[in-house]
Parts: sequence; structure tokens; C-alpha cells
Amino acid sequence: MSLFRKKNVEHMIAGAQAAGLKKALGALDLTFLGVGAIIGTGIFVLTGTGAVQAGPALMLSFIIAAIACGFAALAYAEFASTIPVAGSIYTYSYATLGELAAWIIGWDLMLEYGLATSAVSVGWSGYLQSLLSGFGVSLPVALTAAPGALPGHETLFNLPAFLVMMAITTLLSVGVRESTRVNNLMVAIKVTVVLLVIVVGVFHVKPENWHPFMPHGFSGVFGAAAVMFFAFIGFDAVSSAAEEVKNPKRDLPIGIIASLGVCAVLYVAVAAVVTGIVPFGQFANISHPVSYALQVAGQNWVAGFIDLGAVLGMLTVILVMAYGQTRVIFAMSRDGLLPAGLSKVHPRFATPFATTWIVGIVFGLIGALVPLNVLAELINIGTLAAFSMVSIAVLVLRRTHPELPRAFRCPGVPVVPVLAVGSCLFLMVNLSAVTWIAFVVWLVVGMVVYFGYSRKHSKLARPGR
Ligand code: ALA
Repeated sequence: MSLFRKKNVEHMIAGAQAAGLKKALGALDLTFLGVGAIIGTGIFVLTGTGAVQAGPALMLSFIIAAIACGFAALAYAEFASTIPVAGSIYTYSYATLGELAAWIIGWDLMLEYGLATSAVSVGWSGYLQSLLSGFGVSLPVALTAAPGALPGHETLFNLPAFLVMMAITTLLSVGVRESTRVNNLMVAIKVTVVLLVIVVGVFHVKPENWHPFMPHGFSGVFGAAAVMFFAFIGFDAVSSAAEEVKNPKRDLPIGIIASLGVCAVLYVAVAAVVTGIVPFGQFANISHPVSYALQVAGQNWVAGFIDLGAVLGMLTVILVMAYGQTRVIFAMSRDGLLPAGLSKVHPRFATPFATTWIVGIVFGLIGALVPLNVLAELINIGTLAAFSMVSIAVLVLRRTHPELPRAFRCPGVPVVPVLAVGSCLFLMVNLSAVTWIAFVVWLVVGMVVYFGYSRKHSKLARPGR
């Protein structure tokens, strides 16, 4: 059954132990890591779309999405810590679930990391343009957004989104990675900006804007929860750091729950404030809803600071996601599932140079040409599918591989993984039909590539390996 052929777990564990990553991270470091990866386009931009869909009840949508993420993150952390190998869940699944499952997860992760770089670059573009307009600078309308992104305007290409992707790609291709210090600085900037919104905005809230609270009923709330899930993506960064944690049993659940909790509280407060300042319907087609709310409140200076903080803070989200994407492709290519050229390392920069540029150009163009809400839904469905598979894998592995060392064990098995699968599926069901169609097409293409190419070229398919 070659579909289930696996990498050798013992070899991987031995290799990882030889590599010997330093166990240096504590609960607080993990929380910073999580918050740094999480806060981005979701809260700064999609809040507008979410408010139109759910009304002020967007607050509930955030809570629902956070709870689903919490279950998924606990299961994910067990899976990520089962084999102490640094890398993505693609690598873990290859060793435990077999090649086909690993392929599907890797293929899904391209929707998560790759398209997320596109989506965050679109969010970045909205805030850059808002910042520039504060100085009286504006771009030709055609170059401000993707075709069809601004109804009533002739838009062709999101130039700032494309350019920021090119800049980040340049950095990545010569080997720049985010350092802990930069991450901590970005967390400080982003949290300050979000707190500024809340502290200044709260004095401009008009409670009558919160009525009706749930204009589109529960379907609006759940639909927005499925979209706002995007705002929490990145929490998997905490789980993935499992083997660098000093005391994973204690620190991982604290890190996961604290980073999700901090973001959830901030998000709910921001949702309350912005829907309290601006009647929710007015957020349609606003690409910088959070600073817009402060402009409506007459706080132009504060709005300017928010624009600046968002522009700076979103840069690292793009960097981290693009890095993740290149490494998934790198690993899949090294295993023979994608063409070998994609894992070629640049002799001078020691980076997968060509892959980095292919990723940058492809996802840069997607960001320039596809509207944000379409991207966000696709990212969510891919990520939710990958997380459901991982949660199922946790249950399967407890049965098939009870002896594997697990730095972190998910509490409440089987209940928590089952709740994780259930809540991921629930959010998936609440995404639009178009998104489902696109997702199925993506999976079918993935199967064609797998059966047409990867299965034959897999390193595991060659005798003697
Ligand atoms: N959660 C990340 C963001 O909102 C992906 O930008």
C-alpha cells in the first residue's frame, strides 16, 4: 500500500536529537511568538467585512472562532510535539500517517501560508494607502486594488500589495529571517496600536449603533466567525515550537491559551468599539476599517498612528507566512513529491532562492489580482481542513503508536480532538459555496499532481531507500 508508505520515525527522532535544538522557550516567549504571528490583516481589515455580515454581534463571532482555535491548537500541539523534529505538520504526518495524508496536508498548507501572504499584503496595502492619504498622496485608482474589489470603481491591480511582496521576497531570498527581537518589537507595536483604538475609541462609542445587535441572526454571526477565523491563524506557530520549549507540558498549553486569549479579548474589544462608533453597514468597501472608525470619531492623529502601526506590524506576518510556505515546498521537493529544483539551495545565501522567488511572484500576483475576502475564505477552508486532519491524526496515533514520545499530550482525549474536528467542520460549513467549489478544485488538482508525478518521484518509491 504505497499510499501509506511512511518515513522512518526512529530515524527522524535520532536526526532531531543529533540536531539538538536548544530548549529555551518559556510560556511568556510562546505567548509573544503567538501574538506576533496572529495579529494582522484579520483584525485590521477583515473586521470591516465581519461587521457588515454579523453587525455588532461580530464580538460573538470572534469568541466562537477563538474557541474553535483553542481546541485545534491543543490537538495540534500534541501532533507537533510527537516527533521532535522542527518543521511543519507536513513532516510529522509523513512519518505517522503516510505519504498521501502528508501530501494532502502539505497541499492544504499552501492555501494557508501561501495565500495568507497574499491576503496580508492586500491588508497592508489598504493601510499604506490610508497612511499616504494623510499626507495628501494618493495612487491612481486603477492601481489601488484587485479587479472587482471596489464596486463602482475601475480597479485593475493592487500595486502596493505586489510591491510589498517583492520587498519581503528580496529579504527572504538573501536569508533574512525574523528574529526574536524584531518579533517582540512588532508585538509591542501591534498591541499598542490595538490598545490605542480601544482606549481612544471607547469615548466615541454611541450605544445606539449596537442596535440591532444581530441584524442577520445567527447565520450572520456564524458566517462572520468562519471568516474571522483568519484573524487567529498563526497560533500554530506556538504549537510548532514544541521541541524548543523548556517545559512543554506546562508551557505549551499556557502559551497557546494565553496568546489566543489575549488576541480574543483585544479583538472583541475592537469589534465593540468600531461597531459602536460607525454604524456597521458603513464598513462595506472600507479597506482600513479600524483607522477609519477613528477618523469618523474625528481622531485623525490617532488614526494616522494606527495606519503606521498596522503597516509596520503586518510586515512580519507576511515574512513569517512566506517563510513557512517556502519551507513546506522545500521539504516536499526534498522528499521527491515536488520537482527537485525547488529544494535547490543558493550557494551564497544558503536559501531556497528560486523557490522563494517563485512563491513571491505567484502569491504577489494573486494578492494584486484577487479581492481580500475571496482569499480569506480560501485560506480558512484550507487551514481548517488541515487542522481537522491533524486532530483526527492525534486520535489515530494514540492507538497505532502509543509508545511514541510526546513532549506534550493533548488534555481530554478523545473529547478535545473530537471537539476540534467538530468546530473546524462547523466553521467550514459556514463558508460560502464558491469557496467550497474552489477548495474541491484545489484538492482535485492536488490529487492529479500526486498521482501523475509525486507518487512516482517520491524518494520512498526508489528501491534501496
Ligand atoms: N492572523 C493573521 C492575520 O490576521 C494571519 O493577518
